[in-house]
Amino acid sequence: MSLQPHGGVLVQRFNEQKDLSAITTTIAIDNISLSDLELIGIGAYSPLEGFLTEEDYKSVVKDMRLANGTVWSIPITLPVDEATASALTVGQEAALTYDGVVYGTIEVADIYTPDKEAEAVNVYGTDDKAHPGVAKMFERPNTYVGGKVTLIKKAEKSFPAYTFEPAETRERFAEKGWKTIVGFQTRNPVHRAHEYIQKVALEIVDGLFLNPLVGETKSDDISAQIRMESYEVLLEKYYPQERVQLGVFLAAMRYAGPREAIFHALVRKNYGCTHFIVGRDHAGVGDYYGTYEAQELFERFTPEEIGITPLKFEHSFYCTECEGMATTKTCAHGAESRVILSGTKVREMLRAGEIPPSTFSRKEVVEVLIRGLREEATV
Ligand code: ADX
Repeated sequence: MSLQPHGGVLVQRFNEQKDLSAITTTIAIDNISLSDLELIGIGAYSPLEGFLTEEDYKSVVKDMRLANGTVWSIPITLPVDEATASALTVGQEAALTYDGVVYGTIEVADIYTPDKEAEAVNVYGTDDKAHPGVAKMFERPNTYVGGKVTLIKKAEKSFPAYTFEPAETRERFAEKGWKTIVGFQTRNPVHRAHEYIQKVALEIVDGLFLNPLVGETKSDDISAQIRMESYEVLLEKYYPQERVQLGVFLAAMRYAGPREAIFHALVRKNYGCTHFIVGRDHAGVGDYYGTYEAQELFERFTPEEIGITPLKFEHSFYCTECEGMATTKTCAHGAESRVILSGTKVREMLRAGEIPPSTFSRKEVVEVLIRGLREEATV
């Protein structure tokens, strides 16, 4: 298995020195676009060189492929409001600003009105506005601008010590002598189930790239700050240091379940991973997706088209009869023996200062979570 980036070339579109003197138009971008801009610029979204043009957008929404056939499952778009759109012309270059600061430019190739209904149904599998990803998509402006970008300034980082670009992680993995690397996406504190599937994966690959998403998430998810602390305490005490690399993933969470799982895998391939963990209800929210729908979606493509191997895990839990972690594949006992708590339930418990059982979450992690949530509540 080679470490080829998706599409074959690691995109690099960062130019701090870019001459902006001829640019007269600006587009104010939101948080999501700011992170997408940087992720395009550093090659995390290779082969994307910019925000999707209409042709690519329609093809991604309908077929999960760019117009040239390359697999791509989540539309990376630049929504702009009407006033901004009407001031733009195709062919010009515009500055992309956030809080008045220029972070990049876009060569405007396309200005188009998306069919958001179709985007919702195809990408998220629902047009229900109670779905956080769908709600966010509809909330963002109704005109999309497509075109190649140049990243000029990288945003201030919340976790500088854990921020690596794909070129850097690739180098690190090579330095460590890792030939096979499993990527792990998460937007939650690390619980025993996560630890179990990561360690089962570590039994067969050289290294683990623990890559928590720290971009925009829905308001009731646990903050990135608290989550990062929980990963640190866990890694320090329970993981072989030389076989794990912690690094953040700057993207926003879309909650698009199966389609986001494909996207998550392709991006981790760009960071140099050869394998990617897809457990139960990956990137899901509520009851919108079937437990293993994300795993099943990988079957729609050939292994060559995806180019990173999904490691699929059944729902895992602690079993009091097995006296250890297990999954439905390895445990012979019934539901009454299995310690299963929903993320929502755990968040409720933690916010109420209740301690989930150590069979669900390590005590060091729980301590961080309770302290973090308490501090957050008093801010
Ligand atoms: S996600 O939205 O980022 O996917 P989460 O952080 O909960 O959410 O999950 C991270 C990864 O662990 C995903 O691949 C998910 O499918 C997997 N996972 C989470 N909990 C379990 C579990 N109990 N059993 C198996 N896989 C799980």
